[in-house]
Amino acid sequence: MTLIDPVLLKARLASLAGRFDVDALDECDSTSSELLRRAERGAPSGSVVVADRQSAGRGRRGRSWLSSPESSLTFSLLWRFPGNAAGLSGLSLAVGVGLAQAMENLGAKGVCLKWPNDVLLRSGDDFAKLAGILIELSSDRRGTQAIIGIGLNLAPPTGDLPQPAAGLSQACPISIDRHDVLAAILGQLAAVLDTFTVNRFFGLKMKWQSYHAWQDQAVQILGDGEYPKRGRCLGVDDDGALLLETAAGIERIFSGDVSLRRA
Ligand code: BTN
Repeated sequence: MTLIDPVLLKARLASLAGRFDVDALDECDSTSSELLRRAERGAPSGSVVVADRQSAGRGRRGRSWLSSPESSLTFSLLWRFPGNAAGLSGLSLAVGVGLAQAMENLGAKGVCLKWPNDVLLRSGDDFAKLAGILIELSSDRRGTQAIIGIGLNLAPPTGDLPQPAAGLSQACPISIDRHDVLAAILGQLAAVLDTFTVNRFFGLKMKWQSYHAWQDQAVQILGDGEYPKRGRCLGVDDDGALLLETAAGIERIFSGDVSLRRA
């Protein structure tokens, strides 16, 4: 018996009729891998796979993504764009804006965004990861397809975690049904993806910065090459690159792992 009831979900998605086609599974290897296979067989834009359990959930940078059915929401959304992948810079930041807005609409307080694509929960001076986003793009002569994978903690995860993690239940005054959470997220994703299709990330940049966890603060960036880089974080540019003010001037950062540098 799946934790997502397709009938309940359909009722919650009534106002988005025709935009999403959601399939709820008890288990799969990874909702993103499953959706990729369906996309190859011609699944339409707006297809969603949500699963209670993933046996091989994937995170960024080749990491695995662990989730538990009772306390997380894991799903992937297929979205097709005209043109090639080069025009989609900033897409993962746009998706972050959709997630943050959805959580605020559900009553959550303290939700913020960490470049490039983590959703955090702020509590005083501390930050903990609430959700992760993994976007996989592939292009052909018809355009570019994005598999947008989202893992959200509904309750705070337990066990040996690589970084501090939080749950939506800690951010909301009342407990929220997972069908309402998924419907709220899909509603906001439809809105930001529509904006992104017309105006690219430029149309969402100011909104992203309003959620930015470490705007104008001292940060360090870990990655390959000449890292770590240290500087003051000025936000993002129209393409979603991080702007870092260093002694050498303003640098545009395209990938890496950013963390707050405490004085
Ligand atoms: C991250 O590393 O922060 C991104 C994690 C993304 C995990 C989600 S869970 C649903 C979808 N299916 C996967 O295998 N991964 C993504």
